[in-house]
Amino acid sequence: MPIHKKKDWSIPEKDATDEHVYLNRRRVLTAMGIGGAILAAPLAFRAIEKMVPEPKPVAPPEPDPSAGLYPVERNAAFVLDRPLSPEDDVLSYNNFYEFGSHKSIASAAQALRIRPWQVRLDGLVERETTVDIDDLLKTMPLEERLYRHRCVEAWAMAVPWSGFPLRALVDFAKPLGSAKYVIMETFLDEDMAPGQAASWYPWPYVEGLTIDEATNDLAFIATGLYGKPMPRQNGAPLRLAVPWKYGFKSIKSIVRFHFTETRPKTFWEQIQPAEYGFWANVNPDVSHPRWSQATERMLGTGERVPTQLYNGYAPQVAHLYKDRQDERLFA
Ligand code: MTE
Repeated sequence: MPIHKKKDWSIPEKDATDEHVYLNRRRVLTAMGIGGAILAAPLAFRAIEKMVPEPKPVAPPEPDPSAGLYPVERNAAFVLDRPLSPEDDVLSYNNFYEFGSHKSIASAAQALRIRPWQVRLDGLVERETTVDIDDLLKTMPLEERLYRHRCVEAWAMAVPWSGFPLRALVDFAKPLGSAKYVIMETFLDEDMAPGQAASWYPWPYVEGLTIDEATNDLAFIATGLYGKPMPRQNGAPLRLAVPWKYGFKSIKSIVRFHFTETRPKTFWEQIQPAEYGFWANVNPDVSHPRWSQATERMLGTGERVPTQLYNGYAPQVAHLYKDRQDERLFA
């Protein structure tokens, strides 16, 4: 997310934000004795951002106990039309608002405790259950895939994710026939992740897919990157990779998969529905309200390349939307 731009939203905040988020934020600011002034002035809003606690210095993180599982065999079905992005860039230019609203969160994100890590599978499933990440990693069919990744901010990368098809997890969860969506949630722990102290965001980070999207071949749960366990800043120990959608759909550090009949209001949709909708499929011809999506800038080289419909994955996913043409599929 382009936070520098988000701070400059040109419409009044009460119009841009779901009412409960706006009101909650207003309550917090009022409690701090600064609500009126800040809500009135974008410059003052910048000042409040600085009041979000700085991350505490962190001890070197514990080694990842899943390291012995990697590298895993590459699935040759997933090929790229471009070179892989340099690993250093992918590991140092991140969006992870739980650790800060800028791109240099890699060192702060080392505070993320990745064990013990439990994953809850609940809602409309045959039997609700909680599974330990290391048991899950032993059960799931691990493989490596080369995927493009396109952020809504118009930067892009090409990366080797390791992990397993989301469909394998859906099968493991055994959703009931009535389940139409799977909602994914990130951890909630503001002591560990100081960004979550910013109460104007609707924590925890939540994303969702239809069951059809979640069981599409491309939907992937990534647990590793560049042949190693997932770095904390990239969403350890497990994150989503749905490469035909803008990157904000690819939720990091997931603790819950909830199966439901009802479409969720996702994190960014709650904050700014006009800019970050539920579907968020990549389309060069549908501009973001504040910038063009026609081209993208590659991490590493800085090269500008044309954006592709569904980020180049139309043959695999376009059919998912053929009966939804009246919906806002691309913003
Ligand atoms: N997941 C969580 N929990 N918090 C976030 O801030 N940012 C999203 C997505 N998943 C985000 C998240 C956005 S906007 C993008 S572009 C990608 O993560 C960035 O992934 P990367 O840092 O591995 O490139």
